[in-house]
Amino acid sequence: MRIDFKPGNMLYPVPVVMVSCGDGERSDIVTVAWTGTICTNPPMVYISLRPSRYSYDIIKKSREFVINLTNEKLAKTADECGVKSGRDIDKWKVMKIEQLPSKVVAAPSVKESPVCIECKVENILELGSHHMFIAKVVAVNVDGKYMDEKNKFDLTKADMVVYNHGEYIGLSKVLGTFGYSVKKKKTRK
Ligand SMILES: Cc1cc2nc3c(=O)[nH]c(=O)nc-3n(C[C@H](O)[C@H](O)[C@H](O)COP(=O)(O)O)c2cc1C
Repeated sequence: MRIDFKPGNMLYPVPVVMVSCGDGERSDIVTVAWTGTICTNPPMVYISLRPSRYSYDIIKKSREFVINLTNEKLAKTADECGVKSGRDIDKWKVMKIEQLPSKVVAAPSVKESPVCIECKVENILELGSHHMFIAKVVAVNVDGKYMDEKNKFDLTKADMVVYNHGEYIGLSKVLGTFGYSVKKKKTRK
């Protein structure tokens, strides 16, 4: 039996990221699940925010933000950044999140994050409940402890987390690598 749901957001799992921002006077971190990659070259991403978010005005004014990917260690902090507002508290201080100076943008990155993606806003689409910030990636910074002995970045070691219909899920099991479904098996001679 199949069950019909009313049209709504059912595209899961999605990333859950901590978006840091700053406009010189204010700085904040907002948790975002409506985010993704939209172009490889030039590298472009989006985040969608409700205009009521404290971070919304900061990003609209500064036209910059950093997407900080989350892992199992950061999951609780990410959740807390998603239920409390920068209007009421300084999330950096209260949640003891360490700032890492970003390379290109003025907004600080999250030091504990395995991957920090610095972005500059190119366009804002006012879609409805959420406004979509379309942005160019201007710098990427990763935690060196995830580089393997061949100097390859190994994200499988970072215990990444996804958001799946209201639940945070740790990605501990690798099922295959890109293209594994069509890869020919090596035949022994
Ligand atoms: C898992 C999760 C995902 C979220 N995704 C979004 C999102 O994509 N867009 C959005 O506007 N708010 C999202 N939120 C809600 C904001 O993070 C939340 O309202 C936050 O308190 C806003 O902080 P601010 O007022 O400091 O900007 C999400 C919250 C959680 C917990």
